[in-house]
Amino acid sequence: MKKPKNLRVFTKSKRDGRKIVMLTAYDLTSALIAREGSVDALLVGDSVGMVVLGHENTLPVTIEDMVHHCAAVTRSRPGLPVIADMPYGSFHVSPGETVRHAIRLVKEGGASAVKVEGGRRRGPVIEALLAAEIPVMGHIGLTPQSIHKLGGFKVQGRGHGAADLMLDEAVFLEEIGCFSIVVECVPASLARRISEQVNIPTIGIGAGPDCDGQILVFHDLLGLFEGIRPKFVKRYAELGQQAVEAVRRYSEDVRSGAFPAAEHCFSDENAHPESTLSNTSEAEPTHSSPPELDEEHGYLTSCDNGEQG
Ligand code: KIV
Repeated sequence: MKKPKNLRVFTKSKRDGRKIVMLTAYDLTSALIAREGSVDALLVGDSVGMVVLGHENTLPVTIEDMVHHCAAVTRSRPGLPVIADMPYGSFHVSPGETVRHAIRLVKEGGASAVKVEGGRRRGPVIEALLAAEIPVMGHIGLTPQSIHKLGGFKVQGRGHGAADLMLDEAVFLEEIGCFSIVVECVPASLARRISEQVNIPTIGIGAGPDCDGQILVFHDLLGLFEGIRPKFVKRYAELGQQAVEAVRRYSEDVRSGAFPAAEHCFSDENAHPESTLSNTSEAEPTHSSPPELDEEHGYLTSCDNGEQG
């Protein structure tokens, strides 16, 4: 079993010149895939709003949504630091209310840290979070929660003035006590300057190769989301297409009678209840619970092992 990682992986990796690999996760399945794929840390991003919940952008995501998805990720016990996004509206309030929201992400969601979009103007709430012992990851550059102000999903920090301002934001976030900063959608040369200037690790997305680490959205990396396809995404698989093909075959099989076949059916000959598990999986622990007798209805609750009703 791999040694569990905690937030110290950020500091140690920057010190040792090792790249930090991050991926978003929104539930048990994505968290375990990311862990098995050897990432260093997980972000429960508010991108959940777009790739899972069907919103057009991240603005409608609520603290309830984030707690729900964060808890699903941490229940998988990934053995990795899990950082939860503070959704829009949850930290644009008083520092006290911000801390109450973040505490929910830690207590109910099991997060080890939170991420807050914005630089200098977030000073008071970041200070309050840190005073409540909640580590904070900053996020500068293209901050999707500001799309109305920014006028859309556009590259940020182009030109000397804008670049200097962003560098200043990064230095501010380091000085105030953030343990790391996401740098999104900025010219690679600016991301390099920022990464050289600050001592905390920068995690890039659309920010070139010189950040201390990289992050991608789970669904983008796997080709599971067709909505927006930013230039900075590299697709490592086309699982969406494969999934459609698999479901199409299932539909055909049901309509033609090819599924379920004999090997998927139970006989009524057995005096003893058969296992609902296939022979191969029987010996292996699975995520599903064993069938249990429902006292009230007198049948086995997880999948039919005998007669129902
Ligand atoms: O919400 C998210 O997934 C993010 C990452 C893309 C950095 O903020």
